[in-house]
Amino acid sequence: MTPLERVGLAVFHRIEPERAHALSLTALRRGLVPLPGQLTSSRLATDLAGLSLPNPVGLAAGYDKNAVALGPLMRAGFGFLEVGAATPRPQPGNPRPRLFRLIEDRAAINRFGFNNDGMEAIRARLAARPAGVPVGLNLGANKDSPDRAADFATVLSACGAHVDFATVNVSSPNTEKLRDLQGHEALAALLAGVMAARAELSRPVPVFLKIAPDLTDAEIDDIAAVALEAGVSGIVATNTD
Ligand SMILES: Cc1cc2nc3c(=O)[nH]c(=O)nc-3n(C[C@H](O)[C@H](O)[C@H](O)COP(=O)(O)O)c2cc1C
Repeated sequence: MTPLERVGLAVFHRIEPERAHALSLTALRRGLVPLPGQLTSSRLATDLAGLSLPNPVGLAAGYDKNAVALGPLMRAGFGFLEVGAATPRPQPGNPRPRLFRLIEDRAAINRFGFNNDGMEAIRARLAARPAGVPVGLNLGANKDSPDRAADFATVLSACGAHVDFATVNVSSPNTEKLRDLQGHEALAALLAGVMAARAELSRPVPVFLKIAPDLTDAEIDDIAAVALEAGVSGIVATNTD
């Protein structure tokens, strides 16, 4: 870490974690953060599921949930960005506090629960984004949805024309019973719906499946078989505990 980064981090650590998260996005949007620009080389350039990435290090879902800082994040050096999770309708997420620092472990625990502006607002921002590295969307389900499995396909249908890939996130620990959708039958039905929505896109994008970190070997085998059968392009390993 440079001395400037050390001071910046110390300042951020004095601010309530979720507020610091939001402030960091504001600082990016206002141009207050020095950015390196796109990073690539012949050794770093990577092909993944038909995507040409300038380098293989991407930004995980959850930092820019609402796609509000795509321009600056494009210039932050990542090889790709994943925004979201987006749900069909906007929702506030879990009550605060819901983001906790583990300073000694240099880690964070999040209990956000898919707080987001909803797919319409996120679609508009994705549609207006500048050119740059590939951008994917993390698909989520509304907490109070009568048919959570269908929500994933709904979000892909709405936003798919404006993304380069999509990730089915059935592995967040913060929406009660969401991980039940990782079971064989439920997952097969959910992925069939998502792949049908993908087939309707004018430019079918790769779909990835994001899994939980605490699956047994047997569960991983089962999920891999379902994913292969459905035709997903890859597994994102893993979500948070
Ligand atoms: C504040 C925060 C919000 C997150 N939100 C999402 C999300 O909306 N969707 C998702 O799939 N993962 C989400 N994640 C999980 C990350 O994308 C990532 O999978 C997880 O942090 C594990 O990676 P790590 O070990 O590098 O932290 C979130 C993580 C954090 C810390």
